[in-house]
Amino acid sequence: MARRKKIYEGKAKTLYEGPEPGTIVQYFKDDATAFNAEKKDVIDGKGVLNNLLSEYFMVGLGQVGVPTHFLKRLNMREQLVRSCEIVPLEVIVRNYAAGTMSKRLGIDEGTQLPRPIVEYCYKDDSLGDPLVTEEHIAAFGWASQQDMDDILSLALRVNDFLSGIMYGVGIKLVDFKIEIGRIYDGDFQRLVVADEISPDSCRLWDMETNQKLDKDVFRRDLGSLTDAYSEVARRLGLMPNNPASITKPTLIN
Ligand code: CDP
Repeated sequence: MARRKKIYEGKAKTLYEGPEPGTIVQYFKDDATAFNAEKKDVIDGKGVLNNLLSEYFMVGLGQVGVPTHFLKRLNMREQLVRSCEIVPLEVIVRNYAAGTMSKRLGIDEGTQLPRPIVEYCYKDDSLGDPLVTEEHIAAFGWASQQDMDDILSLALRVNDFLSGIMYGVGIKLVDFKIEIGRIYDGDFQRLVVADEISPDSCRLWDMETNQKLDKDVFRRDLGSLTDAYSEVARRLGLMPNNPASITKPTLIN
């Protein structure tokens, strides 16, 4: 069997050339990293859960008219996506203060913000993804003004969708990060939500207890990461309630 061509190996995913031009296979690894890869571990099953959760969010976004790169899930760890040129920005939307915003501005974690706040970081691991303003983005040509209008609108639509879904299962969407891809179509380009949406890239807190159900469990050594991600998947109806009910393979005589 021919070996697939690896296009890129990232911290949590590997990208392979897809079966047709313009497609890519995203493979979700079990590797977890934090603090710009200073903290690393392999968490059994994380890739499977993120593949499932990201599929769920991307499909849902497509159903409400938010364009994404997602085409279909191929198996437990892989999904087929449209290849796109990634805009070199991490687009962060915050509903409650946490993480770097709390540190930077001295706001207690969990404080509800007056309205969703969108931030942009320049995607460069060697610089630690620094926060940038629209002035930097325009001056360095990372995105045009039209792109920025579209990116803001995409980010807020994703926020409305995800907050609603999470609210429905008793989870607060504290913040999240998305990446945006450009897809060229002749003389035109469209912007789509790319990469992944999973508890690796969101902060998700239980509505009642504020228990963390996201990558902070790993960053801050708060317990089992797979238990936290499984809980999110379970509440969204993506896990069998009774694992014993799964039909076991039977021998065919
Ligand atoms: O996560 P950290 O405190 O380093 O940074 P943040 O700016 O507070 O992160 C805001 C949100 O974006 C969190 O949900 C992070 O998990 C997510 N994020 C991410 O997925 N990837 C990054 N490189 C940076 C932030």
